Amino acid sequence: KILILDFGAQYTQLIARRIREIGVYCEIWAWDHDPAEIAQYAPKGIIFSGGPESTTQADAPRAPQEAFDAGVPILGICYGMQTMAMQLGGVVEADLEREFGYAEAEVIHECALLNDLKDHPGAPPRLDVWMSHGDRVSQLPEGFEVTARTPSVPIVAMADEERRYYGVQFHPEVTHTKQGTAMLERFVADICGCDKLWTAEKIIEDQIARVREKVGTDHVLLGLSGGVDSSVVAALLHEAIGENLTCVFVDTGLLRWHEGDQVMAMFAEHMGVKVIRVDARERFFSALEGVADPEAKRKVIGRMFIEVFDEESSKIDNVKWLAQGTIYPDVIESAGSRTGKAHVIKSHHNVGGLPEKMNLGLVEPLRELFKDEVRRIGVELGLPREMVYRHPFPGPGLGVRILGEVKPEYAQLLARADHIFIDELRKHDLYDRVSQAFAVFLPVKSVGVVGDQRAYEWVIALRAVETIDFMTAHWAHLPYEFLDIVSRRIINELRGISRVVYDISGKPPATIEWE
Ligand code: XMP
Repeated sequence: KILILDFGAQYTQLIARRIREIGVYCEIWAWDHDPAEIAQYAPKGIIFSGGPESTTQADAPRAPQEAFDAGVPILGICYGMQTMAMQLGGVVEADLEREFGYAEAEVIHECALLNDLKDHPGAPPRLDVWMSHGDRVSQLPEGFEVTARTPSVPIVAMADEERRYYGVQFHPEVTHTKQGTAMLERFVADICGCDKLWTAEKIIEDQIARVREKVGTDHVLLGLSGGVDSSVVAALLHEAIGENLTCVFVDTGLLRWHEGDQVMAMFAEHMGVKVIRVDARERFFSALEGVADPEAKRKVIGRMFIEVFDEESSKIDNVKWLAQGTIYPDVIESAGSRTGKAHVIKSHHNVGGLPEKMNLGLVEPLRELFKDEVRRIGVELGLPREMVYRHPFPGPGLGVRILGEVKPEYAQLLARADHIFIDELRKHDLYDRVSQAFAVFLPVKSVGVVGDQRAYEWVIALRAVETIDFMTAHWAHLPYEFLDIVSRRIINELRGISRVVYDISGKPPATIEWE
């Protein structure tokens, strides 16, 4: 296993994902994590991430001495390279100009990290690299050699082969660095000697054993939402403990088209998982009556959800554990190294109150996994691909896609319009090319002619975005012909809708959801 010390770069999670894709387990720790734990964790190699700070500042974050004392290979990336250079006696100079984008690096001294990474034998040893930095190393620490340079940065990579310390100024973790994955693989597999054991099959096996050991023959409760994470937890726990798992599925009336039936068909009928379906539609709608403010709606929905879930679960005897679909990014974010929105967004998901009240322990088998790993093990566990690779769906569901006050009639129209949109995206092979797509219900009436009649009806907005991290997003340039088909279907098939519009706002300034 590998340890990544995070200096706060936006790419740190990407480093971890790449390494896990290579098949090696790794963890991200904040740079100021208790250094005494490094020896205990016993990594086979350490990576220092990039960071937003300048190493030249006196109070800039530094790597703990324990990392160097661990006696294992170290790879410093960007800021990580600079702090390594500085801490070992080199010099870093603040550049006047920031460099951002492609560069061609020339390998001038081969080392275990960059050896033979060129595309074909005999080709000049050049690497296409992605740079994003302000400072650079201007003088090497003792024992190091310059291994690569670019026209603007004379020391773009450095190595001390004896101590097995490596530094690169560019970012091997981003796909723009063409040989980046090969470099990371070199580091973790060849230089650190890690075996590639972290596969979907192995993760499942490992988690099943851990869950069994933890809960024994106790009964476990799981809130199944229809989302990817809780679905994968259900499939995993079913493998691990079978009959001792009970799932509660709350139908809020704000779910995607036929979602409740699909969840029941998949888990209860097909897999034989015990699922209690609670029809709480009326309760949700009446609690939402007269509530128009988005945040107030979110609160009502969150509170109702907990109420219903608590009620149902206290009817089940002998429950000792509550399972949750917490995944690694949630853990990293709430560890405080970042104060992302994701933490707040997710908070109502975690069923509050329950563990204390019922004295339940927590089972979180996805706690160490990234979303792509969760998806891979979902497929391995036999869940259908379409379910596992579904677009994200917000906890409050259609509640935040019906602008203003929520009414059952609106929710029904919206679920159907959304289904038409998604159905056509799949048919046209566009679903996997956008990151998230959905319909929004606008409770405004506009005039139209449907048949020969004057119509005065509601509006549906379509939203489709492309994004990597959901923090920023572009609107998807879906083909006009495609939008035409969707619009016609919605207006023809849904009585009550006479106009369809397409949202062409980016994030920022607009958010992905309308509320
Ligand atoms: P925004 O609208 O903030 O959305 O650009 C970013 C991503 O977060 C999802 N989202 C939510 N997810 N509860 C959730 O679980 C929420 O209240 C919530 N609001 C937004 C949204 O679908 C998008 O993927």
